[in-house]
Amino acid sequence: MVRRGTLLPLALLLAAAALTQMGGVSGQGRPVTESGAQTPPTPSSFTPKDSFLIDCGGTAPLNTSDGKSYKTDAQSNHLLSAKDAIRVADDKADVPSPLYATARVFKEEAVYSFPLAVPGWHFIRIYLFPLKGDGGGVDLATATFSVVTDDNVLLHSFTPEKDKAVMKEYLVNATENHLALKFQPLAGSAAFVNAIEVVNAPDELVADTALSVAPLAETSGLSREAYQVVYRLNVGGPAIGPANDTLGRRWDPDTPYVASPKDAVKDVSVPVGGIKFPDGTSRLVAPALVYASAAKMGDADVGSPSFNLTWKLDVDASFSYLVRLFFADIVSDATNDLYFDVYIDGRKAVSGLDLSTVAGGELAAAYYKDFVVNASSSEVAADKLTLQVGPMGQDTGRPDALLNGVEVLKVSNSVGSLDGEFGVDGRKADDGSGGRKAVAAVGFAMMFGAFAGLGAMVVKWYKRPQDWERRESFSSWLLPIHTGQSFTTGSKGGGYGSHKSGNTFSSTMGMGLGRFFSFAEIQAATQNFDDKAIIGVGGFGNVYVGEIDDGTKVAVKRGSAESEQGINEFNTEIQMLSKLRHRHLVSLIGYCDENQEMILVYEYMHNGVFRDHIYGKEGSLPALPWKQRLEICIGAARGLHYLHTGTAQGIIHRDVKTTNILLDDNFVAKVSDFGLSKDGPGMNQLHVSTAVKGSFGYLDPEYFRCQQLTDKSDVYSFGVVLLEALCARPPIDPQLPREQVSLAEWGMQWKRKGLIEKIMDPRLAGTVNPESLSKFAETAEKCLAEFGSDRISMGDVLWNLEYALQLQDANPPDNKDGGGDQDAAGSEGRASSAVLPPGGVNAVPDTSTTAAGELFQQLADMQGR
Ligand SMILES: *[C@@H]1O[C@H](CO)[C@@H](O)[C@H](O)[C@H]1NC(C)=O
Ligand SMILES: *[C@@H]1O[C@H](CO)[C@@H](O)[C@H](O)[C@H]1NC(C)=O
Ligand SMILES: *[C@@H]1O[C@H](CO)[C@@H](O)[C@H](O)[C@H]1NC(C)=O
Ligand SMILES: *[C@@H]1O[C@H](CO)[C@@H](O)[C@H](O)[C@H]1NC(C)=O
Ligand SMILES: *[C@@H]1O[C@H](CO)[C@@H](O)[C@H](O)[C@H]1NC(C)=O
Repeated sequence: MVRRGTLLPLALLLAAAALTQMGGVSGQGRPVTESGAQTPPTPSSFTPKDSFLIDCGGTAPLNTSDGKSYKTDAQSNHLLSAKDAIRVADDKADVPSPLYATARVFKEEAVYSFPLAVPGWHFIRIYLFPLKGDGGGVDLATATFSVVTDDNVLLHSFTPEKDKAVMKEYLVNATENHLALKFQPLAGSAAFVNAIEVVNAPDELVADTALSVAPLAETSGLSREAYQVVYRLNVGGPAIGPANDTLGRRWDPDTPYVASPKDAVKDVSVPVGGIKFPDGTSRLVAPALVYASAAKMGDADVGSPSFNLTWKLDVDASFSYLVRLFFADIVSDATNDLYFDVYIDGRKAVSGLDLSTVAGGELAAAYYKDFVVNASSSEVAADKLTLQVGPMGQDTGRPDALLNGVEVLKVSNSVGSLDGEFGVDGRKADDGSGGRKAVAAVGFAMMFGAFAGLGAMVVKWYKRPQDWERRESFSSWLLPIHTGQSFTTGSKGGGYGSHKSGNTFSSTMGMGLGRFFSFAEIQAATQNFDDKAIIGVGGFGNVYVGEIDDGTKVAVKRGSAESEQGINEFNTEIQMLSKLRHRHLVSLIGYCDENQEMILVYEYMHNGVFRDHIYGKEGSLPALPWKQRLEICIGAARGLHYLHTGTAQGIIHRDVKTTNILLDDNFVAKVSDFGLSKDGPGMNQLHVSTAVKGSFGYLDPEYFRCQQLTDKSDVYSFGVVLLEALCARPPIDPQLPREQVSLAEWGMQWKRKGLIEKIMDPRLAGTVNPESLSKFAETAEKCLAEFGSDRISMGDVLWNLEYALQLQDANPPDNKDGGGDQDAAGSEGRASSAVLPPGGVNAVPDTSTTAAGELFQQLADMQGR
């Protein structure tokens, strides 16, 4: 029950959000563990309590090939009050189902009254075909009539199309214990119906909230609306008949609606048994068959195409639509490798959808999301609803995108009509009739917070370590390259153990541990460790830039002989690192362990460290625009989220800072130096107890006090990174007045005053959307909470930042003049409050290694003031 994305009822959402924000337990990702373990599996079949199937005009019970049994008129006479008893039949009619071969005709209003066993959602299906024959003197092809319930207009002045059988399907929330279905012929005409179904549906089928696309906001009140099903598509797969859907629905193939070129779309499918339903995901909303097929990008496997898959659906522009998209990643080989954007009506509805994050960390797991599209929006106004999925730009993950299923439901208008602008009582819809009566925007963060957070927790539970005890001894050999204010304390290791030479690795090579380099190769690559090739200096030794093979640039980390930890841990490290593959983690290419050397070879990151691009290097680099800073933060958050949740044991980075976020040639952010990383806490522990390691200024105060490490320590450090990206100053600057020394404290003071823009990097002035800024600052605040349990998870951080980016994209300020590296004339506040010289100061020597003793002293000083 716990995570079902936007489809959680509002109350649950609120409760879940509260839990994420405040809950002591959520900090450890355990509540889902406990409640999740007791949740019975969601049912995969549904037996309706109300089921009225009537073959109108039929004289014998009818069983269709769909497996449904229809009653005759005689059997359902008690439901009908009508003056007429005209029936027509035509055995030779060319109809898709025998249901259409008979009909009931009414020349005056007729009412079917269904007593209901349960209130709530009910399907109403009306089958219509204008049979030839004597309809009481009326030609059914010219019959004109309306069909209404007590509250909703389903059909208004309907006239059938000649020789065309149609089934109209509605979904209404019945609040009474009966449901009336009225057939109202136009004066002098007649009404008819070939078959009727009234069947109740599970509550979860329509949630109260969804994401409105334009403007982007959460809307609620959906459970009070009535719906007409206009499209229900099994994308990339065949039609699914009522017999294969426990709710008796029909799913059509999507092919008639594909607007992309033919070879741009590729249909894929997997055996239906391979589809997983993460805890709490309903199996009823769509059958597994829908998730088991998808359309993906046709050329995605070759080259790097960038295009959208596009579907165009005809709609009536005077209504709003509830669009439900179904996804299951049945195309990826690994999790966290596929990110794509979803557009509805030309607007970005989801940015960088990462199915492995939202669908319980598994491939082929069912996930769906609801959107509301406003009737008066531009594209719909042209009577076309456009759905698009396309790869996220920016070289993020495998360029591909997919869609498994679509439902499009027309939403009743302000007077409860689904056809025409008049309500049951004759009231006319107010202008912009598509408008809905009770759409209230509620906190967006709440939704994202709750579902991303809970999702992440579920992931964590699934990924909990099975072998924690064995792994507990894992600790790192590698120290950060840009060691900055890093320091390390800890027990002295026993120096080098007995050295194992290359052939030890020949056995491990086969396990995918990356490439083995000979010492000679490394020497050649780095010009024999030329000082000029040094790009970083760390406690363990130097980092060199080098070239291997064909001129591929690499970063080479060489452990110095004084390094304390032994070869076993070096081996563990390699095994560990080589398992971590992610777009937003710097990847290990190989290693060298010859001649008692401990050398690791990494991919080279052309644009260096993030810090240099926001401040530092005396501002010699152009200032990054806000959007790019956001994208870098999002990339880093993805990398960290993967560390926390994407691996079996869950890894805590322990040294998150702007110098450990590296940028490649395209400014894609990659997290480096998981050297201090530690496996996350196991099942039996809430935290990892360990000597304090990390970087001054980024250190989680709780970790420092209790020496207990959780993934929330990384979240705290990341909060500091966010403030650095915003304010362009170091996390600790001892030269500043006391209250400004610590960026975390100072930033939060301004945030609490609601004046965060006063301390923003002046070079950003005029380029930042205020809502984006406020979302960003709020995210930083939630990261920097005093207690780990109050902090949001990395998954939440990610969603919040993505939302900040969407806000920026949706409405970038017009005034671009203050941007770039231009003069900061436009900056208000910050200059006048004279809090910081522009460009920032980098007063803390970047190469100093702070001993723990000094650190305690510094912290004591800071706390004392
Ligand atoms: C229709 O199916 C029901 C059970 O589903 C069965 O009891 C009934 O005999 C069938 N009727 C006909 C006419 O086949
Ligand atoms: C039906 O609507 C009522 C309010 O009109 C609401 O309280 C109830 O929760 C809805 N039922 C479902 C299943 O959404
Ligand atoms: C639907 O179910 C029938 C049997 O009930 C089966 O033969 C058919 O293959 C199923 N359709 C699909 C698309 O799986
Ligand atoms: C995909 O569609 C959206 C909205 O229509 C558009 O903004 C975007 O540029 C498209 N992407 C590509 C690669 O064409
Ligand atoms: C639809 O959009 C129009 C203008 O953009 C707005 O006035 C109206 O409130 C919106 N309706 C809904 C239901 O969101």
